Amino acid sequence: MTSPITTTRHGHVLIISSNNPPVNALGHAVREGLVKGIEEADASDEIKAVVIIGEGATFFAGADISEFGTPKAFAQPVLPQVVDIIENCTKPVVAAIHGTALGGGLEVALACHYRVAVPTAKLGVPEVKLGLLPGAGGTQRLPRAAGVQHALEMTTSGNPIGAKQAAEIGLVDRLIEGDLLQHAVAYATEVADIRPLPRTSERTDKIEGTDPAIFEQFVAANPRAFKGFEAPMKNLEAVRAATQHPYAEGVQVERKLFMELMAGTQAKAQQYFFFAERKAAKIEGVDESVKPREIKKVGVIGAGTMGGGISMNFLQAGIPVTIVETSQEALDRGTGVMLRNYEASAKKGRFTAEQVGQFMGALNPTLDFDSLADCDLIIEAVFEQMEIKKEIFGRLDKVAKPGAILASNTSYLNIDEIAAATSRPQDVVGLHFFSPANVMKLLEVVRGAKTADDVLVTAMALAKKIKKVAVVAGVCYGFIGNRMLIPRQTEATKLLLEGATPAQIDKVHTDFGMPMGPFQMADLAGVDIGWHRDPNRIENIRDALCAVDRWGQKKGAGFYDYDEKRRPSPSPTVQQIIEDFRAKAGVTAREISDQEIKERTLYTMVNEGAKILEEGMAQRASDIDVVWVYGYGWPVYRGGPMHWADTEGLQSIVDGLRRSAEHMGDDFTFSALLLDKAQKGEKFTGR
Ligand code: 3HC
Repeated sequence: MTSPITTTRHGHVLIISSNNPPVNALGHAVREGLVKGIEEADASDEIKAVVIIGEGATFFAGADISEFGTPKAFAQPVLPQVVDIIENCTKPVVAAIHGTALGGGLEVALACHYRVAVPTAKLGVPEVKLGLLPGAGGTQRLPRAAGVQHALEMTTSGNPIGAKQAAEIGLVDRLIEGDLLQHAVAYATEVADIRPLPRTSERTDKIEGTDPAIFEQFVAANPRAFKGFEAPMKNLEAVRAATQHPYAEGVQVERKLFMELMAGTQAKAQQYFFFAERKAAKIEGVDESVKPREIKKVGVIGAGTMGGGISMNFLQAGIPVTIVETSQEALDRGTGVMLRNYEASAKKGRFTAEQVGQFMGALNPTLDFDSLADCDLIIEAVFEQMEIKKEIFGRLDKVAKPGAILASNTSYLNIDEIAAATSRPQDVVGLHFFSPANVMKLLEVVRGAKTADDVLVTAMALAKKIKKVAVVAGVCYGFIGNRMLIPRQTEATKLLLEGATPAQIDKVHTDFGMPMGPFQMADLAGVDIGWHRDPNRIENIRDALCAVDRWGQKKGAGFYDYDEKRRPSPSPTVQQIIEDFRAKAGVTAREISDQEIKERTLYTMVNEGAKILEEGMAQRASDIDVVWVYGYGWPVYRGGPMHWADTEGLQSIVDGLRRSAEHMGDDFTFSALLLDKAQKGEKFTGR
């Protein structure tokens, strides 16, 4: 097999170049080739300096994650050896960086004696996002090169920095305008005779005298980064070790912490999720040769919260939007909200005033439905009522140009029924954005019975363009995400009657790692959603809350009481309402254990996910996990409901559901797929 690494000579400079598409991951063959290249440089008197460069789109974007957990990951030379060999080269080695130098890629660069980069390059250590820490000397070299504060920020957040900032903090020696290789070779020639070679591992100037308090201060200032996750604290500990020990001992600490993380369930879940997210973009049964339709202009019907948020995504991606409303007042209100949103982001430094001007300048607010005629994609975002949607799609059918994609943002309704209101069901698709639509990363792409392949391909490509993570869902009530909320909500409400409190149920969920529990979510979204609006008709606890104006946070009261800062506290009124219901229903309150809450609200979601899979409403189990992590804040360190179920063991999920079945009654039926997999000892998600 030919090596992905080739060496060529340019005068006295040896160029080691890596060609391992798509991202030049540091797999075994690359590592081996790098070592051979350095050996070649060491062995030749002709060679005075070395340049390491990536071919294609990028420098090394990290270790090869697909090797993790396989023997290849341990095949020598392992990355810690490679970086030491590079740093110990007797000739100066220059890293020439374009694209991304991430994780092991940045560790390779830090082991080089010099680093040059194009201004668009990005440098970072995203290992924490995989539940890991930089395990090839990165936690020791980074603080030595860039200082402790930057090292803490970069390792615990995993976010990359731009080359310009990298140059300012000492990670990059020279920014290159023009041809990277040519300039890198010139730079290598310039530094060829400088001795001693600058070795990052030998530096102490930026870590000497570090105030030990900096670490506790950092944790106190960034509580969210550490909550629930194991890896950020271990990254911090490894960086701390750099300030306490010489390099050789520091890397031992790093190795120990790295191995501890690697053996844990969080790292497995986060690495699983990395691939789950990328798999979600692939549409089953659609040939890769199918090309997307061109989307140059988007129409949005409805300037409410959803319509406005949806429009913002496209404006930010440079796609003009025509937004249609039925009254000037609603139109003005909607565009006003968008503008205020942008201005608030500009204040936080996310956009410049000029960008905000450009975004709003590309928005065409109108009352004229016919202005949608030149749009390539039209997204309807009006009330969740089938009759209204059908009427709109009937009108769209007459107005939209041939080949335009007609999408509905419905979160529950049947896309096929909506499509049947047109003469072109092949052009109709569901695009279910999550609120706030300009922030939430998830997009459910609902594939109708007649949706054309190229419409799906367009939706997935467009999602990437507007920086969303798209998942294909089939037509069923609530699609993937909201459908799984139904059993959770049903059981949570019944648990209240049986003796639990909203706070107890919510706490099980927040302790699990969810951003909020079912009742906190109801208060945020609005308890009145779906309410029949008749205060005299009280059939359940929600009706009773709505009847006394407890509609959630917006009214300052829902399942909880809220103070002026929207801080919740348990409500005696709600407790009374629950007790009244209990009495009416003849139920005696009993002690409810947290385990029962988990079984009836979380295990039931797994069961519903399994039904979604067996009905073919999701393409794969990992897609369900992507929906829950990006749409509802399921903790990524648990991988998503289906991966979590695998980690718990499917048989123990089944056992838990059996234990709780008597309380769930007719509301619960087992998924045949779950039972079958549990019985065979199989998993949903493989890893
Ligand atoms: N290992 C293996 N495969 C990788 C990979 C990696 N490090 N990085 C990306 N890929 C694969 C993806 O799975 C995808 O495969 P597919 O086409 O079959 O789905 C393909 O490369 C392209 O990836 P993206 O779709 O993500 O491409 P983008 O252009 O959107 O993004 C990127 C490129 C920014 C490099 C992004 O892929 C990324 O963030 N990669 C991961 C970087 C990372 O986490 N590096 C650290 C690895 S851990 C490590 O280095 C440990 C060390 O400290 C010991």
